Amino acid sequence: MKFFIDTANIEEIKSAAAMGILDGVTTNPSLAARETAPYNELLREICSIVSGPVSAEVLATDYRGMMKEAEELAGIADNIVVKIPTILEGLKAIKSLNQQGIMTNATLVFSPAQALLVAKAGATYVSPFVGRLDDIASDGMALVENIVAIYSNYGYDTEILVASVRHPMHVIQAGLIGADVVTMPFEVIEKLIKHPLTDIGLEKFLSDYKKAQKRK
Ligand code: E4P
Repeated sequence: MKFFIDTANIEEIKSAAAMGILDGVTTNPSLAARETAPYNELLREICSIVSGPVSAEVLATDYRGMMKEAEELAGIADNIVVKIPTILEGLKAIKSLNQQGIMTNATLVFSPAQALLVAKAGATYVSPFVGRLDDIASDGMALVENIVAIYSNYGYDTEILVASVRHPMHVIQAGLIGADVVTMPFEVIEKLIKHPLTDIGLEKFLSDYKKAQKRK
């Protein structure tokens, strides 16, 4: 399973990259708005830190506007993946960008029908937003299960990128279902490594050893 970090914060990206488990980055306009540097500058810096896929989102909602922005974003670095909203105009843009060899990430996916369409259009990644579905008392991971089943029935190449992750169990469930990628906030990555029994066990190992040294 590939691990992406869901942030536009340079320090978080550097820390996650230093852990040695980072495969890529996803950003969106809300995440970019939290930072002070302009979006394009941030993306350039992110691509200099991470060699894997870096998702950058268009702001336009019409086909022509999306295409123009997508070409500009793709020009920033070879590892840029253009994030396109899953609407009718977006579907057309995904198709054209695929024909031009530009990688795409179909974002804001909330139904198996949307996931099926973007795979047919040739999206590189599909992003089901599991947390936002859970937030409205729907089942985010059930959507991921459905997408995995549909894509495997027909052999679509589109990679399933689980997004809007809120906690470590989303990551584990995505792994059990067989999603290709999970993108998560920095805090979730940190939580994944933690276990109280590891901390208690480590403390005991060290104190036992110290006690024995004193006796010698
Ligand atoms: C992913 O590509 C999205 O940027 C992100 O996961 C959205 O997460 P949120 O629902 O926590 O805003």
